[in-house]
Amino acid sequence: MSEPMEHRIEVAMQDIEIRESRAGDLPSIDRLYPAAFPDEDLLPLIRHLLTQEPGILSLTAHAGDAMTGHILFTICAMTDGDAKAALLAPLAVAPAFQRQGIGTALIRDGLKRLGQSGVAHVYVLGDPAYYGRSGFSPETGVTPPYPLAPEWREAWQSFGLTSAPMPAEGKLVLPQVWMQPALWGP
Ligand SMILES: CC(C)(COP(=O)(O)OP(=O)(O)OC[C@H]1O[C@@H](n2cnc3c(N)ncnc32)[C@H](O)[C@@H]1OP(=O)(O)O)[C@@H](O)C(=O)NCCC(=O)NCCS
Repeated sequence: MSEPMEHRIEVAMQDIEIRESRAGDLPSIDRLYPAAFPDEDLLPLIRHLLTQEPGILSLTAHAGDAMTGHILFTICAMTDGDAKAALLAPLAVAPAFQRQGIGTALIRDGLKRLGQSGVAHVYVLGDPAYYGRSGFSPETGVTPPYPLAPEWREAWQSFGLTSAPMPAEGKLVLPQVWMQPALWGP
């Protein structure tokens, strides 16, 4: 089913269904990412995560027949300590459906599910103006797999899902597909 990408389509949040993605969602995901990220090809990474990695939380948002958004979390370990962590990336909302709360709803739903499955901390490399709205704050202790360029340091953020203090140091231990410097730099 083709999806509307050109014109803004108003939807009420109660008409948005968020659920775990299924194999049959791949064609819609293939269309969503080039529309949301016209300058980046994230599909090889996403396809690999969805089909090859077990520790993934993948949620899709739907309005009727249209897939309106997608979010991925990679559940991972940290070099220091045994707490379970997750990396939020990527997140995309179809252009026609942006600025209606769908991205925020996907983040909120994902955080809730991760908390229920024992994940303690969630990390993201993204715009602080956007993720700050969902409670993320700048992270200076735990680091991503590669050093960040100075202009990206404020984009590295975390969110605690438990009352335990955030780890003071350590590095995320991610599946091999994430070990590409290009994914962590400008
Ligand atoms: C960023 C993105 C996921 C936001 O999803 P969304 O459903 O449009 O966002 P929400 O409706 O939950 O929130 C919208 C609010 O966030 C703000 N916002 C949206 N994108 C933003 C950004 N990149 N930086 C800062 N604020 C942003 C908007 O100004 C809006 O606030 P307002 O309505 O008060 O003006 C979506 O715009 C998108 O897919 N963009 C292209 C891909 C991308 O950049 N993804 C980034 C994550 S890796």
